[in-house]
Amino acid sequence: MNIALIGYGKMGKEIEQICLERNHTVSLIIDINNQADFTVENLKKADVAIEFSKPETALANIRKCFEADVPVVCGTTGWLEHFDSIVKESNESGKGFFYTSNYSLGVNIFFKMNQFLAKIMNNFPQYEVEMEEVHHTQKLDAPSGTAISLAHDIIKDLDRKQNWQLDGQDNAEALKITAVRRDTVPGIHTVKYESPVDFIEMTHSAKSRKGFALGAVVAAEFMAGKKGAFSMDDLLKF
Ligand SMILES: NC(=O)c1ccc[n+]([C@@H]2O[C@H](COP(=O)([O-])OP(=O)(O)OC[C@H]3O[C@@H](n4cnc5c(N)ncnc54)[C@H](O)[C@@H]3O)[C@@H](O)[C@H]2O)c1
Repeated sequence: MNIALIGYGKMGKEIEQICLERNHTVSLIIDINNQADFTVENLKKADVAIEFSKPETALANIRKCFEADVPVVCGTTGWLEHFDSIVKESNESGKGFFYTSNYSLGVNIFFKMNQFLAKIMNNFPQYEVEMEEVHHTQKLDAPSGTAISLAHDIIKDLDRKQNWQLDGQDNAEALKITAVRRDTVPGIHTVKYESPVDFIEMTHSAKSRKGFALGAVVAAEFMAGKKGAFSMDDLLKF
């Protein structure tokens, strides 16, 4: 498959390695310093584009892929105020779009465990829940997209939580999220339930960026020739 990489930072470089290991051709690499090459004509030579750039550039990059009619697998976080309109645009105009806040298989298993725990905790009001995420110091958005996905699932499934709050004051209806920025950590997420007598903690800790990169390339393979919006649920079929 011919793959276009949009964003050639830490993730873009990991994804390039996985593309080559899986016998794909990287037909185009776009970053901030070669924007002149980011044309519809060049994009059209790719079967799928993989977009990992910056929160402020993701939207325009996705729209350029729509214009070229090339399915786009997006991993950039921190632009989700536009997410619903992009999904609508993709479904209405038949443009291929794939998004997940976290491409690692392990985190997607963790998402399912989180949903299950939130549902059963409706029967155990003595447990208070909170979350912590830890990432490298260059991460621009906080809380992480993964933490927001975990929080949305808890709010959907656990009746006593209505919203989430970053480093907020104590508020019984809000799920408290703490965001820590430390060294080179690729990503640690912990969901913690506490009762007067014990703790139940679930942690996913990424060893490297390789798991995210592999998931993105597998999603690109899935998206070749697809129209409309897709997510990890469509790919993994748990
Ligand atoms: N969904 C996931 O599984 C997942 C996993 C890891 C990271 N991420 C997210 O992916 C994004 C990228 O992460 P990273 O660690 O590679 O960041 P990074 O800062 O290392 O790389 C971002 C790259 O985008 C480039 N860029 C800036 N403007 C651009 C533009 N207009 N077009 C194309 N490229 C442009 C930058 O020059 C840089 O090279 C972040 O939002 C991060 O949170 C998501």
